[in-house]
Amino acid sequence: MDNERLFRTAADALAGDGWCVLTGLLAPAQTRALADECAALHAARRLVPARVGAAHTATALRGDRTQWFDFAAPSPPQQAFAERIDALRIALNRELMLGLVECEAHYAVYPPGARYARHLDRLRDSDARVLSAVFYLNQGWQEADGGALRLYLDDGTHRDILPHAGTLLLFLSARFEHEVLPATRERLSIACWMRQRGPDRIA
Ligand code: OGA
Ligand code: MN
Repeated sequence: MDNERLFRTAADALAGDGWCVLTGLLAPAQTRALADECAALHAARRLVPARVGAAHTATALRGDRTQWFDFAAPSPPQQAFAERIDALRIALNRELMLGLVECEAHYAVYPPGARYARHLDRLRDSDARVLSAVFYLNQGWQEADGGALRLYLDDGTHRDILPHAGTLLLFLSARFEHEVLPATRERLSIACWMRQRGPDRIA
C-alpha cells in the first residue's frame, strides 16, 4: 500500500473506531535494523527499568526496560522511524485536524514473564498525549509465545494484538485502556506518543 493510502486508512479508522492496526510503515530491513539496535542496547544494559507517570514513580505495574529516543540526534534506524511516524503525524493532522505537534518514543524490552498492568496512556497531570503508536520488532512471534497487547474496547470486549515485527498499533490515548500480557520470550517494541500543544494541566 502506498503512503497516501496507508495514512488515509489510518485516518479513517481513527475517526471511526478510534484504533487500528497497520503494516507497511517501514520496510522489513528497516524494522530489522531497529530490532538489532534495541537488542544491542539491551545487551549493553543501556535500557533502564520503566517508570509510571509524570512523577516517575517506581512501580510493580510494569516490568519493561526502556530507552527514550533522542529525536535531536537519532541513530540511522531511529531516523528512518522518525521520518515515517512524522509523515503519519502530518497526514493525520491534515485529515483529522488533531493538532499533533510532536512525537516522543522509547524502545521497550519486556523480559519473559514481564507485564504492564491495565492502564491509560494519558498521564494524570497532562493531556498532551493524543495518539498512542506501538511498533513491534519481534520476528517469528507465535500466539503461543503470549505477550499480546490487550486493548479494551468501548463495548466491553477486547482485542489481543500480537507483537509481530512490522505491526503498528494506533489508538487514541485518552480512550483505550490496555495491558501487556506476559510472554514466554523477550518482547521488543517501540512505544510512541503523538502530542498536542498546550499547558499541562496540574491534577
Ligand atoms: C506503554 C504500552 C504497549 C506495548 O508503553 O504504555 O502500553 O505493547 N506499551 O509495548
Ligand atoms: Mn500504554
